[in-house]
Amino acid sequence: MLVDTHAHLDDRRFDDDREEVIKRCEEEGLVCIINPGSNLSSSIKALSLAAAHPIIFAAVGIHPHDAKTADQNTAEILRPLAGREKVVAIGEIGLDYHYDFSPRDKQKQVFREQIALARELKLPIIVHDREAHGDILNILREERAWEVGGVMHCFSGSKETARECMDMNFFISFAGPVTFENARKAREVAAYVPIDRLLVETDCPYLTPVPLRGRRNYPGNVKFVAEEVARIKDMDADALMECVLDNTRKLFGIDSRHYLSS
Ligand code: NI
Repeated sequence: MLVDTHAHLDDRRFDDDREEVIKRCEEEGLVCIINPGSNLSSSIKALSLAAAHPIIFAAVGIHPHDAKTADQNTAEILRPLAGREKVVAIGEIGLDYHYDFSPRDKQKQVFREQIALARELKLPIIVHDREAHGDILNILREERAWEVGGVMHCFSGSKETARECMDMNFFISFAGPVTFENARKAREVAAYVPIDRLLVETDCPYLTPVPLRGRRNYPGNVKFVAEEVARIKDMDADALMECVLDNTRKLFGIDSRHYLSS
């Protein structure tokens, strides 16, 4: 059984073979894939993928890259989308100071508004944090994000930042970079995070793990991430996946909605 807590199957890089990829995931034992949205149209695509495939669940939200496209109507449009069946989170939302595709003030404003929406709807959040650890922690604190909790996706911070996030009710998720040769810090954090606060993901089509770097990523590759994290924690990869599945069910309330067949 495999779980991918962060996949962008709506991405245009899957346009030619999306259904085949999803079929392959089912055959390879994926039981749950969470597909966050990046903007309104991607969120709507995530919803239709979730409606069509039992193993796919959706999150809706505006990525910091797309924050510049958000206006006053955005929250009004997101709210009913977030109430739809199989929507398990608001995401992905956050701050990206590496690319700065949207002005930072706008990123912060859109991030805050979506945390407020998540609290209103009692949904956890999926957080993107790239080179913005300080502002992310401040905003999570100020907006009382611990009330809903969530996941720090593809975590790239320090042990100290991980500790603060976990204290605010967040899970820490690892992706392909933990398998990269130069990933000393990510491996240190993976060793530090307790198994009951840990998730794994692919962030596909991006961040393909070793040994397939350079190819398009897909949810089945989550096994390479899980194997590396299991190796770091000196445990069996299947046992790790079982914990991840358990954590996924708890965080996203999937069990209570009876979607997983197992
Ligand atoms: Ni992502």
